[in-house]
Amino acid sequence: MRVGLVGAGGVAQRHARVLTGFEDVHLLGVTDVAPGAARALADTYGGRVFPGVAELLAAGPDAVYVCVPPFAHGPAEEAVIAAGVPMFVEKPVAVDLDTAERIAALVQRAGLRTGVGHHWRYLHVVQEARRLLADRPVRMVNGAWLDKVPPVTWWARRDRSGGPVVEQAAHVLDLIRLLVGEVAEVTAYGDGAPPPVDGADIDSVTAATLRFASGAVGTLAAACVLTWKHRAGLEILADGLALSLAEDGLTVRDADGERHLPADPDAARVAVDGAFVDAVRGVGDDVRVPYAEALRTQRLALAVAESARTGRPVALPTGPAARLTAAVADVGMTTDA
Ligand SMILES: NC(=O)c1ccc[n+]([C@@H]2O[C@H](COP(=O)([O-])OP(=O)(O)OC[C@H]3O[C@@H](n4cnc5c(N)ncnc54)[C@H](O)[C@@H]3O)[C@@H](O)[C@H]2O)c1
Repeated sequence: MRVGLVGAGGVAQRHARVLTGFEDVHLLGVTDVAPGAARALADTYGGRVFPGVAELLAAGPDAVYVCVPPFAHGPAEEAVIAAGVPMFVEKPVAVDLDTAERIAALVQRAGLRTGVGHHWRYLHVVQEARRLLADRPVRMVNGAWLDKVPPVTWWARRDRSGGPVVEQAAHVLDLIRLLVGEVAEVTAYGDGAPPPVDGADIDSVTAATLRFASGAVGTLAAACVLTWKHRAGLEILADGLALSLAEDGLTVRDADGERHLPADPDAARVAVDGAFVDAVRGVGDDVRVPYAEALRTQRLALAVAESARTGRPVALPTGPAARLTAAVADVGMTTDA
């Protein structure tokens, strides 16, 4: 299986390392607007350097990974979809909603195999949390991503990254959707004070309240004011059950006492690529976050960001009609296609 990469930065290097560790998978090549980055990745993991996405696609990849920063999504995906090539996209799938809705509609029309890098869903403790919650409705969830500003130039600019909730806390929001259900309404506040980084215009901290369609309530806290990653995860309360879930493990407390189940984040990062590759090869069917599912997480993250920006509550679509909305008309589909 020959994989092409669009983008050659930090996460692309991780995928290149994981993918080339699989049997019968190799890099066809990579393209990046910074040719030096593409060269460095190809020198380490193999494959050719292509001047652009068109040339990469012309070489006939079996799958393409789109690993660009949030603001750069859109054109690469459109070209990959037009070529009918299975596509893995890093989260967040875009900086805005229009791009994500448009790409989702194109994916659906093409019937394309997709995957998105929400690798937390491959933590075995997430399955354990789902099992524990299967017969106990969640009453409350408290999610948090309390961290530093990551060392990439585009991160602290709202129009480049979407801000900390969209860019980072999206992993937590994705798990919140999985474990608690769809959010009907959010109200959020940002502090309006950017972190001390050149050109920053994002909020340093954001606090949101979430009202779920099920009646559950929750909160999300995001911060980028530290110099270390302090905490990323969620607390879930159901009747007689408290779960504390992070990338490195799950702590369960119930009437029988407390137990901790460790987890391996690296294993989840390998599993997300393994599941996509197997699905493309037709030997597996365990892609847990195809593009349409990531779109729903993107809508939630952007609703939190919008509420923090405007100071007003934002309602979200929660029924089946929420699947694909505005962009469907743009690409000439009916909503039940
Ligand atoms: N799932 C995860 O665990 C995880 C981890 C890290 C990063 N990410 C996500 O991956 C994305 C990229 O992050 P990163 O850390 O690799 O960033 P990065 O800045 O290290 O790399 C991005 C690369 O994309 C290139 N690029 C920008 N625009 C491009 C375009 N139009 N065409 C081709 N290349 C382009 C840049 O030159 C750069 O080399 C972000 O959205 C981030 O959230 C996900």
